[in-house]
Amino acid sequence: MPTVLAIETSCDETAVAIVNNRQVYSSIIASQIPVHQQYGGVVPEVASRQHLETLNQEIAQAMEQSHRDWGQIDGIAATCAPGLVGALLVGLTAAKTLAMVHKKPFLGVHHLEGHIYATYLSESTLDPPFLSLLVSGGHTSLIYVKDCGSYETLGETRDDAAGEAFDKVARLLKLGYPGGPVIDKLAQTGDPQAFALPEGKISLPGGGYHPYDGSFSGLKTAVLRLVQQLEKEGREVPLADVAASFQETIARSLTKRALACARDYGLSTIAVGGGVAANSGLRKYLQAAAAEHNIRVLFPPLKYCTDNAAMIGCAASDHLSRGHTSALTLGVHSRLPLSQVMNLYEH
Ligand code: KG4
Ligand code: ZN
Repeated sequence: MPTVLAIETSCDETAVAIVNNRQVYSSIIASQIPVHQQYGGVVPEVASRQHLETLNQEIAQAMEQSHRDWGQIDGIAATCAPGLVGALLVGLTAAKTLAMVHKKPFLGVHHLEGHIYATYLSESTLDPPFLSLLVSGGHTSLIYVKDCGSYETLGETRDDAAGEAFDKVARLLKLGYPGGPVIDKLAQTGDPQAFALPEGKISLPGGGYHPYDGSFSGLKTAVLRLVQQLEKEGREVPLADVAASFQETIARSLTKRALACARDYGLSTIAVGGGVAANSGLRKYLQAAAAEHNIRVLFPPLKYCTDNAAMIGCAASDHLSRGHTSALTLGVHSRLPLSQVMNLYEH
C-alpha cells in the first residue's frame, strides 16, 4: 500500500500525518482552541492565519518523526471539502506545492470520508459494508459505507449537528468552548434522569416519525427554557444534572436511529466517527443498546475522533492504491455531499 503525507486544515486543527494504509508513522496536531476560545467559537480568518503560521514546521516535524524521506512518500493529500474555504485553501495549496516539487501524485480528500476511515486506524478487521454514525461539529449523519468512495447517506440532522448542540448548550450554560469535552466531564457527576428533554423526532406527513433523521435545535431551546425557568424561580441551575440529562438525550436519540438503520439495512457493524465519538455517554449508551441486538460498535481511538490528518492519510492511501489521483486544478468546497467523493479523482 502507498505511503501518503496528509494535511488537514478544514477548521481549527492544523494537522499533518504520514500514513501507510492503517499504519500511522507520524501524526502531528496543533489545536487552535486556545486562540479561538477568547471569541467563544472559531473565527474563520483567524483559523486561516494560524494554519499558515504552523503548517510548514508541522510538515517538517511529521517527516522527521516518521523516519521516512521524500523518496519513501508515494503521494501528497489534503482535505479539500467540506470546511472553511480559507482554511482549506492553506492545506490544499501546501499539498499541491509539495506534490509538484517532489513530483508525487496529489489527492484531495473529503473530510467526512476521513472521519469514516478513522475507525480503520485501530480496527484491522473492519471492512465495508458497515454503517457509519458520523457525529462532528458540522455533521450528524448515518452513512451506508459500501466501499472506498461509495457512500449513501441514509439519515441526518435537519438542523444543528450533535457537536454544534454540545457547543451551543455549553455556551448558554457559560461553560466555554468547545462544549463537548466540558459537558462530557460535568455530566459524569450529574443525574441523567434529572430533567426530561426532547429527543428531536421528525414528524412525517402521514403520521409517525422519520426513522433515521433527527433535529437537535429543539433540544438546545429546551435546555435554554429550562435554565430560564430555574433562574425565574430563583433556583440555582444544577449544572451537572442539566449536562447529564442533555448528554443522555443526545446519546439516546443517536442510538435509537443508528440501531434502527443498521437493523433495517442488515448491517452488523456500526463505526462511529467525528468529535462527538469521543463522548463517554454516547460510547456507553450505544455499546450497551447495540449488544442487545448483536450489533458490533466500533469507535476510533480518542486522538482520532476529533480532527486529525492520520484519518485523511488513511483514506488517501486507500484511494491511491486504487489508482485514484486528483488534478492539480482541484479547488476547495465549503460543502460537498459524500455521494460526490469520486468527482475529486481522475481515474
Ligand atoms: O470532528 P470534529 O473535531 O470537527 C468537525 O469536523 O466538526 O468535531 C468537533 C466537535 C465539537 O463540536 C466538540 O464540542 C465535539 O466535537 N466534541 C465532543 C467531545 N469532544 C469533542 N462532543 C461531546 N463529547 C466529547 N467528549
Ligand atoms: Zn471533523
